[in-house]
Amino acid sequence: MLDSGHLLLGPETSAFEDEFARYLGARYAVAVGSGFAALSIALSALGIGDGDEVIVPALTAPATAGAVRRAGARPVFVDVDPLTRNLDPSAAEAAISPRTAAIVPVHLHGTPAAMSSICEAAARHGLHVIEDCAQAHGATIGEHKLGTFGDAAAFSFYPTKNLGGAGDAGAVVTNSADIAEKVRRLRSHGLDSSGVAIMLGETGRMDEMQAAILRVLLPHLDEANAERRELAALYRHQLSSTPVGLPPEHEGAVYHQFAVLTEHRDQVKARMAEQGVLTGIHYSHALHQHPAFAEPHLHLPVAESLCARLLSLPIQPEVASGHVEQVVASLRRSLGA
Ligand SMILES: Cc1ncc(COP(=O)(O)O)c(C=O)c1O
Repeated sequence: MLDSGHLLLGPETSAFEDEFARYLGARYAVAVGSGFAALSIALSALGIGDGDEVIVPALTAPATAGAVRRAGARPVFVDVDPLTRNLDPSAAEAAISPRTAAIVPVHLHGTPAAMSSICEAAARHGLHVIEDCAQAHGATIGEHKLGTFGDAAAFSFYPTKNLGGAGDAGAVVTNSADIAEKVRRLRSHGLDSSGVAIMLGETGRMDEMQAAILRVLLPHLDEANAERRELAALYRHQLSSTPVGLPPEHEGAVYHQFAVLTEHRDQVKARMAEQGVLTGIHYSHALHQHPAFAEPHLHLPVAESLCARLLSLPIQPEVASGHVEQVVASLRRSLGA
């Protein structure tokens, strides 16, 4: 690939786009530079921008809300369901205003959001749905892969994702030829095939190196997800007699994270680190609690309470395989201490 000198928008990128779309059962995948770019470009391709409101769950990566802002729209934060930890469909419907243009459900930690209720509410109110699939590569509802339920979906291939490259990369997935064409223009300065800027675009391309690496990894995604499910089942079994709250169970989940709920989370995390077990926090702040998006008068109790208690245990097959018992033992010691 390096010898060919074709480093952007070359044969690896178009082959990856075809292979990823086929894997998902979607018509089009358009490779872009990151998950953030995928979300903001998908919103722009749908005509969402200045003056529009976009409903997002309060419990997600800051990138979800940042991308809405980047597109020019205002994110409206909605509480999550305490069991699924995903967007609460009735709270989302209650937040719809005359300015609402879209709903962005996030499949947090690889657990599918309630897509049928969300899509039905969106259809009733004439809204677009853009799935944030940054944590849900290969996850399913019934026979269908996530990323095929809304008007468009955004994927991130950040290195730690279930399908991750060796740098930043992302993709917009859609069944609409029109949206796919707009995304292709928007990722490359709004240019048409003759090099004329017909819309305001950006530098939002995936590079050929990432596409080549992702093409090697994609055929192993289902196997890696199956390993994550096995590790999750092992955790569930071994944690059943502890006071920690377990993640939601969904047969189509892909466990990007395995996040338990515990009181005194920061103390437990620190004690586990002392014992050599590294854990994560996804996330410590709900979106409206970040200074960049601060809404001091907004109170979203479920998201806020989860943010105080979530603790992600190692679930990446290359880190966790063979170590579940050790992690659980460390967690038990840290809870009891
Ligand atoms: C839910 C969610 N949305 C969006 C993003 C943004 O993806 P990227 O880091 O590739 O821009 C991420 C990853 O960081 C994410 O976890």
